[in-house]
Amino acid sequence: MEFELFITPLLFLMLFLFSIFLLFRGKKYPDRLPPGSLGLPVIGQSLDLLKALKADKVDKWFLKGITKHGPIWKASLFGYPTVVVHGPTANKFIYTYDGNILTSTQPPSISRIMGPKNLFELAGHDHKRVRAALASFLKLEVLKQYATKVDQEIQHHLQTHWHGKHEVQVQPLIKTLTFNVICSLLFGIEKGTKRDKLLPHFQHMMEGLLAIPINLPFTQFSRGIIARSKLVPMLIDLICEKREALEEQKQEANPHKDLITSLLGIGNDDGSTNLSDEEIIDNIILVMIAGYDTTSILLTFLVRLLATNESIYTTIICEQEEIAKSKAPGEALTWEDLTKMKYTWRVASEMLRINSPVSLSFRRAMQDIEYGGFIIPKGWQVLLSQSMTHMNNDIFQDPTVFDPTRFEKHAPQPPPFSFVPFGAGPRMCPGIELAKMETLAMMHRLVTQLTWELVKKDESFKRNPMPEFDQGLLVRIKSNIYAI
Ligand code: HEM
Repeated sequence: MEFELFITPLLFLMLFLFSIFLLFRGKKYPDRLPPGSLGLPVIGQSLDLLKALKADKVDKWFLKGITKHGPIWKASLFGYPTVVVHGPTANKFIYTYDGNILTSTQPPSISRIMGPKNLFELAGHDHKRVRAALASFLKLEVLKQYATKVDQEIQHHLQTHWHGKHEVQVQPLIKTLTFNVICSLLFGIEKGTKRDKLLPHFQHMMEGLLAIPINLPFTQFSRGIIARSKLVPMLIDLICEKREALEEQKQEANPHKDLITSLLGIGNDDGSTNLSDEEIIDNIILVMIAGYDTTSILLTFLVRLLATNESIYTTIICEQEEIAKSKAPGEALTWEDLTKMKYTWRVASEMLRINSPVSLSFRRAMQDIEYGGFIIPKGWQVLLSQSMTHMNNDIFQDPTVFDPTRFEKHAPQPPPFSFVPFGAGPRMCPGIELAKMETLAMMHRLVTQLTWELVKKDESFKRNPMPEFDQGLLVRIKSNIYAI
């Protein structure tokens, strides 16, 4: 996605000059830079990595570099000289290094759509403050009470989009579901016209994020910017409504009613609010984006797995039917029900290992840093790969084999920083519990209500950078196990 920045000649020239400047900075330490070649300025090895990403062969791309240069090497990626690292020690270093020095700054085109105050752009105290505010709602103790609400949203979704259908495209449908769950749970926007109006703007923003960043009429990027400009006033109205409601019902208001109310309710000791409206808006947008593709991809892969692996399907259905039997017909799931879905979560964890929705993480060095005996010069990028760590034979035996027993309680635990689908350290995903809740509740409803088969047995996907199935993972609904 970042590579597409090159398309405009002016941008290309600026990047070219900047990358030459960074290369010269690196020349300060001729003997301390990692081995490897930076290739052509700006372009470097970007096309090669993009090709590997599309083919879902990032681990092979890493392996090629390791074989050629050793465990740490340099390359030029997406306009920046980059130090490529891998493995649990490197993960620990990157994930836990001082966030003011190793930042997660995004390309300008991305922050133009996500907003300058989104969590990825923030570092140090501001990152801590905004993240703590988000986490105060997303933590398990608070989310627990919303299990039933998530389940109701899922039931409504299945009834509207799956029941009575002959064939469905799983990936786009589940994306709509994750959008609806976020709207309802995090923003307090229940089903209806308001939510329906938000969806197209949000979808244009998502497309804009992944598009060539040329801001000309009719480009996807400019549609993304326009969509943000239409979405922001709607979010401002929403914030005003929630602020008024909070003030009116000060006494009996539930501060955890939804994420926005929770963010508005967080105050400083002097009575002022902790987050500005701009921070709230940019982070509402971030949460929408961060929680949309990721969970839906995990669920899509699980739907595919259950259509092809009979033994896993049978064990999951046993576990889920046991839970269904303990409920009255139509009774919603509770958090306690979800805690019983231990095997289902082991399968989901193995899926996150083998098909990590996020397969690469970049950081930017704000000053010269030493790692593994080498210097990472100021301005350079650092790249690590979750997929590469998850496919390491020394950590996960027979890594290509799908084996949920790896996550059994008594199985040897993977060493720290070696199972990292949600990252680790101060920037570790704050949405884990929500992702888990959505995944388990959806799996329960799917396997207890429907059976399905793949229309195309070998429907493939490309990473763009998130996995995208060629036909949205087309499945044929075989039967409704019981009518609701
Ligand atoms: C299966 C689902 C998910 C996966 C695999 C996932 C993965 C990740 C990863 C790997 C990171 C860290 C990236 C880095 O260090 O560079 C991250 C960050 C983040 N995720 Fe998730 N995520 C998931 C679901 C969610 C959900 C449901 C939400 C929202 C409710 C969410 C919100 C965020 C936010 C706000 C950040 C930024 C944290 C920060 O910079 O401090 N994620 N996610």
